[in-house]
Amino acid sequence: MVKRNVESEALYREVARLLVDRGNCVALTGAGVSAESGIPTFRTQGGLWEKYDPMEFASIEAFRKDPSKYWSLRGEFIKDSDLYQPNNAHIALAELEQMGIVRCVITQNIDGLHKKAGSKNVIEIHGNLMEIYCLACGKEYKAPYVPEGMPPHCLCGGILKPNTVLFGEELPVDVFMKAKETSATCRIMLLVGTSAIVHPAASLPYLAKENRAKIIEINIEKAFPEADYSIMEKAGTALPKIVDEINKFSHE
Ligand code: OAD
Repeated sequence: MVKRNVESEALYREVARLLVDRGNCVALTGAGVSAESGIPTFRTQGGLWEKYDPMEFASIEAFRKDPSKYWSLRGEFIKDSDLYQPNNAHIALAELEQMGIVRCVITQNIDGLHKKAGSKNVIEIHGNLMEIYCLACGKEYKAPYVPEGMPPHCLCGGILKPNTVLFGEELPVDVFMKAKETSATCRIMLLVGTSAIVHPAASLPYLAKENRAKIIEINIEKAFPEADYSIMEKAGTALPKIVDEINKFSHE
């Protein structure tokens, strides 16, 4: 098994060659891919779960008891979503899709930035913060147009909830089935900016590997020791470099 830890030009070239030769790549992304858009990650230093207890602020049990806590954590992002724009990593992944190399992006992120960057085939396994619905009547609200109030209420009086998966909630079965099927049939998985420890998403790279996919990890630190290739670099630097290397092949 080939393992690489040095972010040399040769490594970028090798990874780019693999992507071109194998194609059929699926990217599994996490909070690290959006870090350079100014959105905090969860578990790195200064991350969200250092300041907030996830069971208190992001579990379905806590939401049922006091929805204003989740809204106090997420409401600002929803209102100011225009402040958060895709970065070079999101854009490079959209380019790789246009080139016919990335077949699908499976993301644990709820910020919607992959779609904003132009990726078409995106599976948001933890949902999307910008889709909001009433727990009582099901009426949908499209952020940033959310009624005032903490927590915000629907016209019917019901409580509004973003369409995101909270701790203690199951992932929608059809969404996760699609993510599993996509992972099991890819030939390369790009694992970008995720600690890869939260289940069930964390099972996807293993599923890909069992089915003989190569795993290329891009992360500022090594999070997935079983990766075939590790590029320890910011996603917003590494992914555009890979795109550049691929573009060089077409000029050779
Ligand atoms: P984590 O915060 O657990 O991990 C972020 C990863 O990104 C870490 O491995 C960092 O080293 C890496 N990273 C940080 N900045 C980076 C950069 N610029 N470029 C590349 N990598 C970088 O976030 P997730 O793995 O996404 O779930 O966490 C998974 C799930 O746990 C989330 O979807 C969320 C959270 O609790 C729910 O809330 C249900």
